Amino acid sequence: MCGIVGYTGPRDAGPVLLDGLRRLEYRGYDSAGIALVTESGDLFVEKRAGKVAVLQDAMGDHPPRAGIGLGHTRWATHGRPSDLNAHPHSDCTGRITVVHNGIVENFRELRDELKAGGHTLQSETDTEVVAHLVEDAYAGDLADAVRVALARLEGAYALVVLHRDEPERLVGARLNAPLIVGIGAGESFLASDAAAIVAYTKQVIFLADGDVADVTPGGAVITDLSGAVVERKIDIIPWSVEAAEKGGYEHFMLKEIHEQPAALTSAMTGRLRHDSVCLEELDPIRDRLTGIDRVELIACGTAYYASLVGAALFQEWLGVPARSTVASEFRYSPPPINARTLVVAVTQSGETADTIAASRLAGDRGALVISVTNTVGSAITRESHAAVFLQAGPEVAVAATKTFVTQVATLVMLAADVAHHLGRLPAAKEQELVAALRRLPEQAERAIELAATTEEMADRYAEAAGFMYIGRSFGYPAALEGALKIKEISYLHAEGYAAGELKHGPISLLDADVPLVAVATRSAVYEKLISNLMEGKARDARVLAVATEGDTQIEQLATDVLWVPDTLEPLSTILAVIPLQLFAYHVAVKRGRDVDQPRNLAKSVTVE
Ligand code: F6R
Repeated sequence: MCGIVGYTGPRDAGPVLLDGLRRLEYRGYDSAGIALVTESGDLFVEKRAGKVAVLQDAMGDHPPRAGIGLGHTRWATHGRPSDLNAHPHSDCTGRITVVHNGIVENFRELRDELKAGGHTLQSETDTEVVAHLVEDAYAGDLADAVRVALARLEGAYALVVLHRDEPERLVGARLNAPLIVGIGAGESFLASDAAAIVAYTKQVIFLADGDVADVTPGGAVITDLSGAVVERKIDIIPWSVEAAEKGGYEHFMLKEIHEQPAALTSAMTGRLRHDSVCLEELDPIRDRLTGIDRVELIACGTAYYASLVGAALFQEWLGVPARSTVASEFRYSPPPINARTLVVAVTQSGETADTIAASRLAGDRGALVISVTNTVGSAITRESHAAVFLQAGPEVAVAATKTFVTQVATLVMLAADVAHHLGRLPAAKEQELVAALRRLPEQAERAIELAATTEEMADRYAEAAGFMYIGRSFGYPAALEGALKIKEISYLHAEGYAAGELKHGPISLLDADVPLVAVATRSAVYEKLISNLMEGKARDARVLAVATEGDTQIEQLATDVLWVPDTLEPLSTILAVIPLQLFAYHVAVKRGRDVDQPRNLAKSVTVE
């Protein structure tokens, strides 16, 4: 939520910051703003409600030249999206300016105190208090003043602060929200994530909670909140700027759907050994895995749907109770947790506030925590004893696609690895699984080809009043995820339901205007699913089935069929979701929606 970028160095800062903001826009796009210290030493601030393009128009063709500046793209929490509430926010003197991602929870109290002390606050935001606190604390050294101000804040923040009179220096700080420092040749950056700066440098420092970064063109000095210097290593970003560009596709979402075969290959790289699965990341915690007697998966949104597959497999292969819970519920109603509980936190961004808080709670109560994430250096990796990376590359579209399929594949490998090392996965079964995993990228490619029909189908379904998605067993998470894709990007209502539950209520929604989308791939529950499909058909609903190639029966029953290749049941979720992603994409395009940046959403949800 919210994207931050800062630059200090010899380049013209304005274009660098605008470029960074465009690449961070997926984090929030209610409003955007920029602050620059111009060559004549003035502080130039421009901020607008709307997307970065609106800000760019407002700045015109010749924004002032500057060697330092900061920028922000916002997902509103406190204060509606407006020019006034857009970041950056400045102090009373107009010398200090701040951008912020997170929530200052005690901002009302601080506002009252600042107003009583004679400060004038202009906006409705929580962020503005920070600029005024820094103003009060400033005695010639910006980093010192920021540290004093931070001591007053409760909540979460990634902040970048600039003082007009120190025109080579940016001060950044983080607590429960991401911030990285980019180290270039004679230039430095601060950013919410690497996408904003990878065009300029691949060398980054992932700041830890409580870090304050004093950044100049020559590099960065990192301290804790007391001012004591802390050492942080430099990491190298493993992907290039092209990975975060559209590469000829009309939308990032379409590109990322097409990247799924390669993302699956990458997720499996180094993890399949002959006939077995091995995740080296688990080696340091193998001793603790032997005593596990229960598995709890925690996640939000799409990651939660992926985690349902993981829970089913842990339970089946380990023979211990396993379940998945949405992190925001787990936090406030946690199950009994002890040292024999394995908690698996699934999060693409590694930043989702609820998932992080739930993992922390589990860790504090003694659980062994493994995170499954796409983001190296993200906060969740610090809340877990081992981190398993998706290796899917950057995902820019707000609607998750390639990270869903790689989450499922990674959870399958994780459950198989743990079951293997505990001696509970028969060799023949593992051999069969590995063979099926190896076929998966090619099959995903075929699923994409077969789903070419979704473009034409979208014409016939785009005006539906809503959709009902159903599935059973491993088809159920695919149904849930398919429904979420439609909701997110087309703004049509869709229910994802366990097929057996249809008759217990939601069947009343079905009629000629509400199609039934049935995940009916080959499985042990296929016949049961067909009965549910027939129940829908009998209510005049059009039936769109996702089915396994070669299924002759389904053609007689469904109005339309989306074909996918045959695979093992635990992997069927991955292939079944592909046509549903493309169906949602084409429906959204037909309806003229903003596919990559749907309304009201942001990719990383760093607020609770
Ligand atoms: C849906 C989507 C969201 C995320 C959810 C969790 O397309 O992207 O539902 O899955 O916000 O995000 P992560 O995985 O980053 O924790």
